[in-house]
Amino acid sequence: MCGIVGYLGSQPAHPILIGGLKRLEYRGYDSAGIAVLEDGQLCIEKKKGKVADLEALIGDNQYSSTIGIGHTRWATHGEPNDLNAHPHLSNNGSLAIIHNGIIENYGALKEDLNQKGYAFKSDTDTEVFISFIEYIKESEGLSLEDAVRIALTKVVGAYAIAILSSDEPDKLIVARKGSPLVIGLGKDEFFVASDASPIIEYTNEVIYLEDEEIAIMQNGEYRVINTSDDSQNPQIQTIDIELEAIEKGGYEHFMLKEIFEQPKSIADCMRGRLKASTGQLVLGGIREYKQALINAEKITFVACGTSWHAGLVAEYIFEDLCRIPVEVEYASEFRYRNPIIKEGDIIVAISQSGETADTLAAIELAKDRGAIVFGIVNTVGSSISRVTHEGAYLHAGPEIGVASTKAFTAQITVLTMIALRIAHLKGTITERRYNELLVELEGVPDKVQQALDFNDKVETIADLFQDAKNFLYLGRGYNFPVALEGALKLKEISYIHAEGYPAAEMKHGPIALIDENMPVVVIATRDSSYDKVVSNIQEVKARKGVVIAIVTEGDVLIPKMADFTIEVPSTHEALMPLISVIPLQLLSYHIAVMRGANVDQPRNLAKSVTVE
Ligand code: AGP
Ligand code: GLU
Repeated sequence: MCGIVGYLGSQPAHPILIGGLKRLEYRGYDSAGIAVLEDGQLCIEKKKGKVADLEALIGDNQYSSTIGIGHTRWATHGEPNDLNAHPHLSNNGSLAIIHNGIIENYGALKEDLNQKGYAFKSDTDTEVFISFIEYIKESEGLSLEDAVRIALTKVVGAYAIAILSSDEPDKLIVARKGSPLVIGLGKDEFFVASDASPIIEYTNEVIYLEDEEIAIMQNGEYRVINTSDDSQNPQIQTIDIELEAIEKGGYEHFMLKEIFEQPKSIADCMRGRLKASTGQLVLGGIREYKQALINAEKITFVACGTSWHAGLVAEYIFEDLCRIPVEVEYASEFRYRNPIIKEGDIIVAISQSGETADTLAAIELAKDRGAIVFGIVNTVGSSISRVTHEGAYLHAGPEIGVASTKAFTAQITVLTMIALRIAHLKGTITERRYNELLVELEGVPDKVQQALDFNDKVETIADLFQDAKNFLYLGRGYNFPVALEGALKLKEISYIHAEGYPAAEMKHGPIALIDENMPVVVIATRDSSYDKVVSNIQEVKARKGVVIAIVTEGDVLIPKMADFTIEVPSTHEALMPLISVIPLQLLSYHIAVMRGANVDQPRNLAKSVTVE
């Protein structure tokens, strides 16, 4: 995915565009560019690299233009280079576009335009897109908005676009389908972006454009139509994200800030929903289909990456508490394997960004086959939150670091509340166990803070392993998904290869990897499988493996056998993932920093993968 920004108003556009791109750089950052209309001419500055490189390219060029568009790219068609960077001009140079998404039929369009004498400078689908719009405009003598609208009925794929025309230098046109786009309404000025973060320093009045909607902004006015040319009356929403929520807050990286935010973000998930003292547990977003959830014969979770790991934790929780069979599917596999979905089946999509293409596609497939789909999403107004029947927001606040941390614990918190609510209504847990878990869950933020207090010790251990070539992560039961998550965290920000495994599974192959050069992180907190995990630690030590054990505070047995131990507070087994993941997040963070990796923007990654 990428980040798009746009501005139309009375201020110089390019500083606003650059500032907006910096706020969106976490979304994708292999190249960046802007286009402004200077004295009626489209001026483009773009290059491979970060927004800072673009800023250096612009240098002292002081554009006076008050209209412009900007883009940070995460390439899908055409390698990251200066030519493939956005914005792209149409064939005759009169139109400029920035685009988030994929035009799947761009090949056929390009071939047809080539035959009509159109030439292309880049390898991107986007350049074809804007030339196709030009072709429709010129060949049918249409206005720009009509040409855009007709083109959108003919392209296949996903887009969030912003378009400028040198023929109409005071008009900004945007449209979306499958990729997000927000319009900020200022005083006689408009701010456009992929999400609200570049907008909130200017206005908190926004419109979330819906799929197949087009907004035309000109002379301080705007109107919204759909691709059928029907006028739309979008809701103006007031957003309450504070600017500092997207600043680093004094931390070196967004990821560290977000790791340390978890006591608050987990508490925020429960705010207004859970009150242990009164046994209150209310999830406002799950009302109309609550009974369907209670009567579910099976629940299928669909997600990607860390969100998929949260789904694995949910599998243990829902089966343990609600006695409902659960399946957890990679959305990318689910959408293509012709899954068996009956009318009324329950699907739960988990997504921090709410924009992940594979998860969105899995939702659409499930809905087409009559399933009821719930969305567990962090980003308010995101696509998944709008296409699902019901759901619950995480309320974890913006997660900027590409490596997901607070969203993971927030997802587990919300899913645990849903499971507790269902189990209580179904009577599959006793009143006593229900209240015990409510009290324990309400107390988790304090225990997460206690786990965070061991940060210095984790940093000391990280220093000893920053040059490791491989890691193995082992856990059992509720801690098995945490082992997978710990391995993913390390991989994606330190670029060290790491694998997560059920601890018992180690004997079926991975144990061959173990020697004195293999650090093995074992989640060995005191729970129903503790004794078995102790045996697994001994099996690792017998082969000279180096064991870093996550143990329950006060454990005296494992420190005698493990090389290093990191203590965490005790909690109910079902809630342990919320605690045991903390040292693993910190371990991966410190190792990555020590290796000089770009922690918030790891190579090859984007915060949300809105393309296949
Ligand atoms: C996790 O650290 C990664 N950034 C990635 O695996 C992520 O969890 C995945 O892309 C899913 O994103 P989503 O939750 O926004 O759908
Ligand atoms: N498909 C377009 C390209 O590869 C846009 C990718 C993006 O969303 O950044 O340039």
